[in-house]
Amino acid sequence: TTSATDEYKNIDKSELRCAPDCYRVQLPPLQPSGDHKILFRVPAEGWSDTLVHPYPNTFKDRWDENYVYMPCSNSNIIASQHGPPVSRWKQIEDVLQQGIPGMFELEEAILSYNQHYANRWTFDSLREFFLQPIPLLKQGRRSKLTMSQQQAACLLANAFFCTFPKRNARIKSGTLPDINFSNLYSRSGDPSRKIEKLKCIVNYFERIRNKMPTGILTFTRHVLDEGAAPIWHRCNLNLADLHVSSEGNIEDDGVGMLQADFANKFVGGGVLGHGLVQEEIRFVICPEMILSRLFTPMLKDNEVLFMTGCERFNDYTGYSDSFEYAGDYVDRTQRDAWGRKCTEVVAMDALHFRTSESQFEESKIVRELNKAYCAFQGTEFTSNLPAVCTGNWGCGAFKGDKHLKALIQIMAATMAGRQVCYFTFGDETLQKELVQIHGMLCKNYITVKELYKLISEYSHRVINKKQKYWEANIQTLFEYIANTLGEPLTTRAGSSFEY
Ligand code: AR6
Repeated sequence: TTSATDEYKNIDKSELRCAPDCYRVQLPPLQPSGDHKILFRVPAEGWSDTLVHPYPNTFKDRWDENYVYMPCSNSNIIASQHGPPVSRWKQIEDVLQQGIPGMFELEEAILSYNQHYANRWTFDSLREFFLQPIPLLKQGRRSKLTMSQQQAACLLANAFFCTFPKRNARIKSGTLPDINFSNLYSRSGDPSRKIEKLKCIVNYFERIRNKMPTGILTFTRHVLDEGAAPIWHRCNLNLADLHVSSEGNIEDDGVGMLQADFANKFVGGGVLGHGLVQEEIRFVICPEMILSRLFTPMLKDNEVLFMTGCERFNDYTGYSDSFEYAGDYVDRTQRDAWGRKCTEVVAMDALHFRTSESQFEESKIVRELNKAYCAFQGTEFTSNLPAVCTGNWGCGAFKGDKHLKALIQIMAATMAGRQVCYFTFGDETLQKELVQIHGMLCKNYITVKELYKLISEYSHRVINKKQKYWEANIQTLFEYIANTLGEPLTTRAGSSFEY
């Protein structure tokens, strides 16, 4: 007997294009530009598995809204009641040089930054790396930041010690997330989640202390310019190839593909607090991703963040409440010509739907299509792009409809010229249905604009009926499409409900 999977076109995973082999051209030489700042001296002969040198080698002190407020800035001062303002950096140095044998001493050390005393001493080693102001990847502008893993480690150590000024919490009305690990030390929230996260973070520091990684990281803010979004009801392309599996996940099985981070508009979401779903798990197993919060203001509707080269340091089991650190992880991913691990992850934030019907409003569908399209565009390369490795984007904490989101992502990938590798995360019904629906759409040569029309028709029914469409006996989006194409789904008992 042939299974539903055999009947329809579920392409083999080996047919998915993967980086770097799929690119036909070389990366251009690594060079700084107006919108790409590089924090180290690029070796003339290219990257070669040795530590790179920070550039320039003097600290440029900038204290304004265009750059990261650095803890060692002269402007980082605290008003004092009995005399001139006190340098906050000096206080931090003083307490940390005393050595911190245990957790309680660490707490004391951090709390002590607010005491009004100042000893004379130097702690220049930390300053060593802060030799160029680190620009914020500001909203509305395409920009890139490339740094060494060593520099990232130094900055993360500062976050661990809570030294970044004004960054213990997101300022109300502000657009920068918190980066200091203060929330991980706070009393609120479930302590067992924090302990498992701390195990990951401590293992990361243990690893880099034993052997400093020599690689390079790039963070890219990507903006979909006005007028550059596809006009969805006019797109004539046939749908992208699709591989669907109910087994496997993005981080283990997406090697060489563009991997989706089901993000919050504040990248990293609750990684330093209570959150522990796809994004937070990814960030704690690849702690260099946490650093994106230092310089990435909130993502707007037409923006995403690419994180290229972040290394995985931790293994884990479980999910959410059952998440546990499961030991060290050695990441054997190869590096590209710039010295970056060939791991490209894109933080793309879906909308959070409080009522299920609202996601079928046309403006919401277009927003999600454009967000996914922005995420699936290339940054360094624009053709022969690797497949996108994704799954139930926006369908967990953010309560989206899996059928709708899967089709939205396939449409966006089609327009961006990528194949799709979709992990249903254990959902076998979805796996079978998605293969069938995609097969039917392809067999009938349904283009992006025709699929857009089918989705619009279904959406009108949902919205006009004001039905709770997810209740039993009401057609799902896939059932509606299958019935319209005259080929009912074979994976579940047909619905008797008719609009
Ligand atoms: N690989 C593939 N699929 C996965 C994986 C994985 N590793 N992990 C989870 N899934 P969710 P959202 C599937 O809820 O709804 C965070 O706090 C699984 O089916 O993380 O976009 C962010 O910071 C899961 O139900 O993403 C945001 O604030 C589904 O993907 C918010 O959650 C959705 O995962 C985003 O919520």
